[in-house]
Amino acid sequence: MKPTVLVTGGAGYIGSHAVLSLKQQGYQVVILDNLSGGHKDLVETVLDVEFVVGDTSDRPLLDKLFQTYKIDAVMHFAAYIAVGESVEQPGKYYDNNVGGTLTLLEAMVAAGVKKLVFSSTCAIYGPPDEVPIPENHPKRPISPYARSKWMVEQILEDFDRAYGLKSVRFRYFNAAGADPEGRLGEDHYPETHLIPLIIQAALGHRDSIYIFGTDYDTPDGTCIRDYIHILDIAQAHILGLEYLMQGGDSDAFNLGNGQGFSVREVIELAKTVTAQEIEVIEKPRRAGDPPTLVGTGDRAKQVLGWKPEYADLEQILAHAWAWHQKRHGRKNADATPAALASSAS
Ligand code: UFG
Repeated sequence: MKPTVLVTGGAGYIGSHAVLSLKQQGYQVVILDNLSGGHKDLVETVLDVEFVVGDTSDRPLLDKLFQTYKIDAVMHFAAYIAVGESVEQPGKYYDNNVGGTLTLLEAMVAAGVKKLVFSSTCAIYGPPDEVPIPENHPKRPISPYARSKWMVEQILEDFDRAYGLKSVRFRYFNAAGADPEGRLGEDHYPETHLIPLIIQAALGHRDSIYIFGTDYDTPDGTCIRDYIHILDIAQAHILGLEYLMQGGDSDAFNLGNGQGFSVREVIELAKTVTAQEIEVIEKPRRAGDPPTLVGTGDRAKQVLGWKPEYADLEQILAHAWAWHQKRHGRKNADATPAALASSAS
């Protein structure tokens, strides 16, 4: 029988796609999610796995959970994720992303569960010295969000040395897109990410889209990011899990496509994919944004056998567009968002 995996943040964007992939590949899954950003309706209608509502900082709940289910490994996605908010409210990020993770790790050690796949980020590198960014690039995170993830990576190294807790850390570039069958997708509230915001504008749910910073040292002055399909990220997590189950040592892997797109390029391509005009307003830089973040998944390919299937940004945008239309519909269209949400399965 395949392992039983505890997925924290399994009702959220990346976690839910990982749960769907795990389930499709025969794993038993238990979700722990406090529903601060996750979607109960999607867990119930699409994922249909064991679901515990709670927090990674709740040690008694974690102990009970590890006693109740025979957990073999943990995939840890639960975290606050908005770079800009983390600059304004750093305590919130360190408390949840670092403090909550520490409680989870201590509960894992107490329960003898010693395999963890961790959701890290390329933001830990900060403004890069070289592009694509290699995994051994110096770590100079410039936002509390990114610092919280880098702190956890270092804590994981200490937990390996002290307790033999083995971890795979995935440093993703910009997660984007949706399940190609339209069952799941990105649905943050409030939304801060570029692609869903552009799509909301295309659907008429917002009047315009802001470009944060047009004076960066990049060809068109806007920030460059490497967008990676959510299902390719999910599949990497399963390969990371298998690697650990086979006795693999702790390691960290970038997950990127090696190709950067500026904010303006993403908006232009989205106009083509959605066949909508999108009004753009130029704004000052957003604090905490490095100008360029691009990296490859070469090490993940070599060591884990990862093969990204959806590396094309146009396809990533098309999947996101299909999901958003199904989930939220066009403003003033006949179907209400609630009706669409309930039919999202
Ligand atoms: N941007 C805009 N306008 C918006 C929103 C974003 O111009 O309305 C810009 C941002 O300034 C940035 C780029 O679009 O330059 C991408 O921003 P996102 O908010 O979509 O994503 P981030 O790069 O800030 O962060 C995301 C994840 C992080 C992860 C990071 C890695 O949220 O968890 O990618 O690059 F660490």
